[in-house]
Amino acid sequence: MPDPAAYAPMSAAEARRLRDTLQKQGKKLVFTNGCFDLLHAGHVRYLQQARELGDALVVGLNSDASVRELKGPTRPLNRERDRAEVLAGLRAVDGVVVFTDKRATELIEAIQPHIYAKGGDYTPESLDPGERAALQKAGTQIQILSLVPGRSTTKIIERMTNAEDAGQPLRLGVLGSGAGSNLRALIQAIHDQALDAQIVAAISDHADSGFLRIAQQEGLPAYHVDAGKDPRRFDESAQKKVLQLLQEAGADIVVLTGFMRILKEPLLSAFADRIVNVHPSLLPAYKGATAVQDVLDEGEIETGCTVHLVNADIDAGKILAQVKVPILIGDDAEQLHARIKKQEHILLPKVLAEWRRD
Ligand code: GAR
Repeated sequence: MPDPAAYAPMSAAEARRLRDTLQKQGKKLVFTNGCFDLLHAGHVRYLQQARELGDALVVGLNSDASVRELKGPTRPLNRERDRAEVLAGLRAVDGVVVFTDKRATELIEAIQPHIYAKGGDYTPESLDPGERAALQKAGTQIQILSLVPGRSTTKIIERMTNAEDAGQPLRLGVLGSGAGSNLRALIQAIHDQALDAQIVAAISDHADSGFLRIAQQEGLPAYHVDAGKDPRRFDESAQKKVLQLLQEAGADIVVLTGFMRILKEPLLSAFADRIVNVHPSLLPAYKGATAVQDVLDEGEIETGCTVHLVNADIDAGKILAQVKVPILIGDDAEQLHARIKKQEHILLPKVLAEWRRD
């Protein structure tokens, strides 16, 4: 049975001694601080990055009282002794010092670390002025590290405490006829936890489309629905089949990613205000299937992409979000479309991540 004392916090004086020893060896002590209430992969990666800035890492850990002051009466979830033990057990962490103030100023003065790591949207200028002054006085180098997107203790708590349904990932039924790059972007966003969703059905009208290949490779429930040879027609029986697949899969939202047939009843009513399409122009300009070529033919200097709701009128439902894309001299339709798609791959997952269920 491992001895928990091995992971007990150290005192500020011990951390200072560690710093002095490293200094004598020409090595550097890195320091960072925080609440580290519910450890997640973002913390672990951040601490590893911080550790790699020098030769040892000491973490200043907010005491229970100071976490309450910073985050409100429901925090911390874990007591300081446990938070310290978990942190000290990480490979990247050489020592943990608990401090009682909201800010780590006194601890910085006591330890005088060589490097101070801070995460997130901070700049050296936006650090707490007291902490910054202490760092400057100690000659400490300040390093801002980027946080891992999508990981936060607050988000985890939200997922755990929200109402049953609100905590569930959004169930997406995705339809596509083409290469499937938007499907791939959705899969990636879900994997990165930027989008809390699950693809419950991937449906194509083309048996040999890139879209279906990607869906199959990724192990998604993938379906080909035969909608006939005419690429524009989408007859009633095929519409009904698609609707049945979506309903059986329990889809919350239908996402059209380059699905080139026109949706009609009964699909439209069954998913009213819950069908989203991505289109390669700045709607309402350049509706239809040849939007990218059409902007070039008109000699436009700017286009973009639109995410919008789908209704019975083609490319005319409520616009949810748009991004502009410049048209460059010499652009052909393929080059321009590739740049538009890059923006679609960011915009579509973003809109879905912000989707609110009623
Ligand atoms: C996307 O650019 C999408 O905007 C477009 O088809 C492409 C599908 O690409 N949709 C339309 O033109 C709809 N009128 P993908 O198969 O690589 O996701």
